[in-house]
Amino acid sequence: MTSATEGWTWGYDTYDPAHERLVEALCTLGNGRFATRGSAPECPAGPVHYPGTYLAGCYDRLTSRVAGERVENEDLVNLPNWTLLRYRCLPDGDRPGEWLTPDSPHLRHYDVRLDLRRGVLSRHLHYEDDRGHGLRVGHVRIVHMGTPALAAQRTTFHAYGWSGAIEVESVLDGSVTNAGVERYRHLESRHLIDRQSGFTPEGIAHLSCRTADPGHTIALAVRTETEPETDRPAGSESGPGRARTTSEGAVQSLLLPIRRGNPVRVTKTLALRSSLDRPAGDPLGLAVDAATGAPPFSRLLAAHRAAWERLWEEGELHVPGRAGLVLRVHQFHLLQTLSPHTAELDVGVPARGLHGEAYRGHVFWDELFVLPHLDLHFPEVARALLMYRHRRLPAARAAAREAGRKGAMFPWQSASSGREETQALHLNPRSGRWLPDRSRLQRHVGSAIAHNVWHHARATGDRGFLHGPGAEILLEVARYWAGAADLDPVAGRYHLRGVVGPDEYHDAYPDATAPGIDDNAYTNVTAAWVLARGLELLDELPAARRAELCERLALDAGEIDRWDDVSRRLHVPFHHGVVSQFEGYGELAELDWQAYRDRYGDIRRLDRILEAEGDSVNRYQASKQADTLMLGHLFRPVELAGLFSRLGYRVDDEIWRSTVAYHLRRTSHGSTLSSLVHGWVLAREKGDDAWRYCEEALLADVADVQGGTTGEGIHLGAMAGTIDLVERGITGLETGPGGLRIEPVALRELPRFVFTVCCAGHRGVRLRVLPGRVGVRVPVSSPVPLPVTLPGERRFTVEPGEERWFLLRAQGG
Ligand code: BGC
Repeated sequence: MTSATEGWTWGYDTYDPAHERLVEALCTLGNGRFATRGSAPECPAGPVHYPGTYLAGCYDRLTSRVAGERVENEDLVNLPNWTLLRYRCLPDGDRPGEWLTPDSPHLRHYDVRLDLRRGVLSRHLHYEDDRGHGLRVGHVRIVHMGTPALAAQRTTFHAYGWSGAIEVESVLDGSVTNAGVERYRHLESRHLIDRQSGFTPEGIAHLSCRTADPGHTIALAVRTETEPETDRPAGSESGPGRARTTSEGAVQSLLLPIRRGNPVRVTKTLALRSSLDRPAGDPLGLAVDAATGAPPFSRLLAAHRAAWERLWEEGELHVPGRAGLVLRVHQFHLLQTLSPHTAELDVGVPARGLHGEAYRGHVFWDELFVLPHLDLHFPEVARALLMYRHRRLPAARAAAREAGRKGAMFPWQSASSGREETQALHLNPRSGRWLPDRSRLQRHVGSAIAHNVWHHARATGDRGFLHGPGAEILLEVARYWAGAADLDPVAGRYHLRGVVGPDEYHDAYPDATAPGIDDNAYTNVTAAWVLARGLELLDELPAARRAELCERLALDAGEIDRWDDVSRRLHVPFHHGVVSQFEGYGELAELDWQAYRDRYGDIRRLDRILEAEGDSVNRYQASKQADTLMLGHLFRPVELAGLFSRLGYRVDDEIWRSTVAYHLRRTSHGSTLSSLVHGWVLAREKGDDAWRYCEEALLADVADVQGGTTGEGIHLGAMAGTIDLVERGITGLETGPGGLRIEPVALRELPRFVFTVCCAGHRGVRLRVLPGRVGVRVPVSSPVPLPVTLPGERRFTVEPGEERWFLLRAQGG
């Protein structure tokens, strides 16, 4: 179905209702403030089509009753559909045709093209009926990257073999609900209340509404224009055509005379405002003014393209071939979800982009896979996303207090307020049973946030951030870990009990009533890392800041000593000479993987399969995704060995290799993050299968390898992670105030690529990777030379305006 025509175009050249939701998700357009799914303008929501528009940070809370229980959920709200455009042909002297959609039997040709360079979605349809009457329809849509309140859609009609008129209905549809995820169908979904719609005397359609809780006001205004201009009906005060408001929205009906060779056009220009905007104002008035004053489509398009050009300059990554195209698709969706406009908002990293309703638009630990890339290209956006967490420190502190702990306990799923938003119950679609959801015990999310704080400061050299809000986050997470660890005085080891690791399958011991497992290796090692960084940070803080922080946080010498002790004596379980995923993992039953594959084919969601069989995945050595091996994603082999050694364990290359092989064999890859992490770890280890996993990570969304999940929203962590895999994973790149450090590993299938990064105050440092060598070019505008460190601690500098090549295997330089 996919026809990837060239390096900057993603497309589909047939219409396949079974894949329409996938196409909609992958053709979503956004600007980091709001996004609209790439749905067919002709179709309202139904079994095939699902239009959706989502505003970053616009959540609403509703209460539902499921399985006899009252559950609350906070959802990213689907906003009124501004794209809807119905049309039919009225041939002279003949009866009117039917309303046309891609589902019409008269559809003869269909293609969708996403121009990634310019951020433009176009769709072409050709219909021909039994009378030989043809109609070609071309839609072009943008969600404006320069002016983040605006979007526009231009539709052009060509008639073949007939003349007469096209009847068009341009609709602003407020009847939408959150109905994009089948599994959530039992939950309340009507978030928009108090809908009011109308037209201004100039013919601008508008619709304002409120969310239920909290009451955010949302206003959309749409200017509909025609080319050639159509006359207003006598006495009309509503722009072209007839206008009517319904209880659900505003409809403008147009009659456009058409003849062969004389195409006609309808353009909808949207302005979207809300009470979340700053500075505050009346959303409706502001939306109407913005729609009225917006430039014509051609000028909007030019400014939009220019904005995208700037983004691509800063986010440059060129990889040849098919992999390069997919990486560009990933980068495109990343930039549409998190653009420089996002830096103006109070929002986090939504795990499924602004592309659908899966996971309710919530923010998980996935930023761990996203921020390192933003640190390299858009450090201001990365900082703003960390500030989203900083503003929610009070909520994280309150959660820790409620759990009887100190410090900050960040929620596994976060949305508007920073409180825990993980659902209490989830549905197993295979068995139809609602089950308790214990994934909230993934306390490792705090370490992910602390890791991002540290990495951001290291990569950008932003000491102000590290010593300011960054220190508050990192120290409070460290404090949480030190308090949560309990000491077994006999063994002299600390334990972190009752948690869930990144592998969500194991949320309790078999047959146990208490939730959680003990001493998840990933959780414990990263907690030790956070504690060690907390101590390092306290040492490097200027004395006055340290004193002020310690006083404010009531952090005394005794507590700091405990951090040191815990960071050296947290328990990490081992069995059969490998790092165990958690205490007791090695004693769980072995699963007959082949038997399950033979029986079910796709066993990614083994948890659901086993539960439906009346069994439980908790009984088996079977993981959803990389868990222990996440350590190899976050830390280089020497760092990892150092961390284990600080904890009093020896993990050399041999042990690590065995650990990788052991866990890889027992993972079902039920999360798109899994293949990414395995690809990364194997590539750094020069493992044979590296490319197989990297390729699967590349295909995760574009080929919808999880079978239907992408249509509910992209997997932003996996998308960003694949770009990071190329830029940092393969090159071993580290940036910091000391310049660039490169330690590439060869990945045969990606022998050459080019990308541009920010580093040590330089913007636009260009790296060209070729087999056996790497070129570093420093922009002529850079104020000072850039230090570069190669394997073996070989140090060089590159002067402004110079491109210097380094050999990687020989002496180089
Ligand atoms: C994964 C988590 C991830 C979440 C959101 C889940 O399926 O297991 O690791 O954070 O999806 O992407």
